[in-house]
Amino acid sequence: MTKKELINAAKMTMENAYSPYSQFKVGAAVITKSGKIYTGVNIENVSFGATICAERVALFKAISEGEKEFEMLAIVSSSGDVTYPCGICRQVIVEHMRNGNIVFEDIKGNISELAVQEMMPFSFDEVTLKK
Ligand code: THU
Repeated sequence: MTKKELINAAKMTMENAYSPYSQFKVGAAVITKSGKIYTGVNIENVSFGATICAERVALFKAISEGEKEFEMLAIVSSSGDVTYPCGICRQVIVEHMRNGNIVFEDIKGNISELAVQEMMPFSFDEVTLKK
């Protein structure tokens, strides 16, 4: 599975986004250490606050199926350009894939990669919680 293939999986699933309020579609695809892919889309709600982002849907689907080890997460959006995860998703991403990477594709088709630790340094974590 290449980075491009994971991005393509995110692009395909993005079409299933439920985003009638923002008209902004997001797709995410996460690959486990064993090579299984789970996808997610943003699912909005008329209350706005009940909306969930694509990244959390992908991770929560995988976790609920028993997955524990994640290698890489691809994020795409209807902007066609690099779309970074929101703050809430970063907190969830760091909890479950601290040593993983995130891949993005820009409008020109260039692929870039960011380590989760680069994206979310100094995070609140379980080590702090236990102090
Ligand atoms: N959204 C995501 O799904 N992921 C992100 O990382 C940023 C934002 C969604 C939430 C909402 O449905 C729409 O994009 C606009 O904020």
